[in-house]
Formats: sequence, C-alpha cells, structure tokens
Amino acid sequence: MYNTRARVDRPHGAPAGQKDARMPIVTSVINLKGGVGKTTLTVALAHFLAIEHRSRVLVIDLDPQTNATVCLIPELEWKARDEAGQTLYQLFADHLKGSRQFNADTAIVRNVSNVGGGVDGLDLLPSSLGLIKIQDRVTQLTDFESFQRGPIFILRDALADFLPYYDHVLIDCPPSLGIVTLNGLAFSDSYLIPVVPDILSVLGIPPILDRIEHFARATRRNIRALGIVISKMRAHTLLHTEMLRRLRDDFVDRRFPIVFETIIPESTRIAEAANVSAPVNTLIQKYGNGGPYDELSALAREYQVHVKR
Ligand SMILES: Nc1ncnc2c1ncn2[C@@H]1O[C@H](COP(=O)(O)OP(=O)(O)O)[C@@H](O)[C@H]1O
Ligand SMILES: [Mg+2]
Repeated sequence: MYNTRARVDRPHGAPAGQKDARMPIVTSVINLKGGVGKTTLTVALAHFLAIEHRSRVLVIDLDPQTNATVCLIPELEWKARDEAGQTLYQLFADHLKGSRQFNADTAIVRNVSNVGGGVDGLDLLPSSLGLIKIQDRVTQLTDFESFQRGPIFILRDALADFLPYYDHVLIDCPPSLGIVTLNGLAFSDSYLIPVVPDILSVLGIPPILDRIEHFARATRRNIRALGIVISKMRAHTLLHTEMLRRLRDDFVDRRFPIVFETIIPESTRIAEAANVSAPVNTLIQKYGNGGPYDELSALAREYQVHVKR
C-alpha cells in the first residue's frame, strides 16, 4: 500500500554545481516543552503544503520518541526500516563508529501518509529510539560554547544531494537542544514555536529564543524566529484567552516573535488524525468532521506568507 509508487521525476542526487541553485525552505518546529503540539503541527503542516500547495515536502523526525514517524508510516514499516539501518540512528551511529552504512536515498520514505494511500511529494526521514543513546555519546564530543568541534553538520551533509528536490523541509524536534536537534537547526532558515497558551508554556519561550540565538551567533548563521503558533487552544477558558492576549500585546517589549493569526483549537479530531492506519481520501476526512481542517489549512497559507517575508 505505502510508498510503492515510484516517483519518475525524482533525481538521484542533484548534479554538482546545481546544489545551491534551488534550495528548500527549512524550518525547525521546536519548543523545550513536550506536549505542546510540535509533532501534530509538523505533520499537519506537511500534509497541507504537499496537498493544497502542491509542494514537495520532507519531514525529518529528530525526536527519538518517533511520533512524527508513526503518524506518517505504519509502525511495522518503521520497525523494519529501523532494523535495516534505514533511520536516523544509522546516520549518527556511522559518525561514531566510522562506518558508512546510512544511505539517504533508501532511508527517505517517499509518498507517505494514509491520505489517499500515500501523498505525492510528502516524504519522511524516520527517527529511531536508538537516537537517545547516540545523543549522549555525540554530546560528549561537543563544545557547547563555540560548537567548533561539534558535529553539527552530519545531517545537512548526508542530505545535501536530496535537499534541492524539495520546496519545504520541516524538522520535528525533540524537547531538548542536544546535538541531534542542533543538527536540524544547523541548516534551518527559521523556526516555529508551538505554544499552549498557559503560564508554564509562555515562561518557556524566552529560554528557547535565547539558546537558539546563542547557537546562531556561535555558528555565524541566521536562524529566523518565524513566529509562535498557538495550539490546543481552549477558547472558552479565561486562562487561555488571557495568555493569548498577553502574548499578542507583550511580544514587542519582550522581543517575542510574532504570534500567528491562525490559532489551532484543542480538538479530539486532531488527536485521532494521528492514526496512520485509518484509510482516508482527503484532508477534510482526516482533519475535518467538526475538526480543525479550516485552521490547519489557514496555518499553511499563513506559513507560506511568513517564510517568504
Ligand atoms: N490541537 C490539538 N487538540 C487536541 N489534541 C492535540 C492537539 N495537538 C496535539 N494534541 C495531542 O496532544 C498530545 C501532544 O501533542 P504532540 O503534537 O505530540 O506534542 P509535542 O510534539 O510538542 O510533544 C498528543 O497526544 C496529541 O495528539
Ligand atoms: Mg513531538
């Protein structure tokens, strides 16, 4: 069922010299807090960009919890790929062991998702539980002050031949800024911060901004804070409406990035959409039915506007 269709126009590596001619927009979806909707937003945004904007999208799952992976391919397929060395574990293990088994061309799963039995142009680089132990070992080699000796370009280099094929790369980050996350940030143009509008989530925003700014400065890169996306909004609660108001009003003096106009409500339908085994044919079937189809569609449109600013 999944990913069996060959894609005729996919280049097996862009010719040398054309690598910089056309590069995707690379965005990390990040927050040091878990459970704020990072994975849900990454997966939804990828679907809407691929289907409603006809973009070629690569989702990179950097979280060892593999949530984005199992939202996009069946768990059994992921397990088989993990055992065959076709996940991000192998890439970082190669770096530690000096082996060269990781092959991006076979590791990238093409035309993933349960929508229509697979969405043209929606691809996935799967994660692995094994990333946890790798993270610790690679971290020991890293100088977090300057990143000079840190192996932060492993991922970018492994994907170099494939990136020009995509319009968008969306990186689902774990709730930490370890070396695996830094490998995503190291080739990101920008980042998006999903936030649940409550007190602890809002307090979590300045530390992310500070640490990414530090990383960007140390590596002499520009990583733009694209904005805050409010997720799991309960509009009928005073807490959420008040925190949203403060986020919108206070961001100027606190140097917060903009808050997206689009707000993703809390909805059971969105949690159910994580099931990749339920056969559906359209995005309305996946996210609609009283669910947040309209908001997610608007989010993708707003995202397109912000990344092109
Ligand atoms: N808008 C939403 N409405 C209802 N449940 C949501 C929504 N967004 C995420 N969830 C659920 O909340 C949990 C955490 O979301 P997830 O996207 O995995 O967060 P993170 O990646 O930040 O840890 C998941 O069970 C997910 O299904
Ligand atoms: Mg997640």
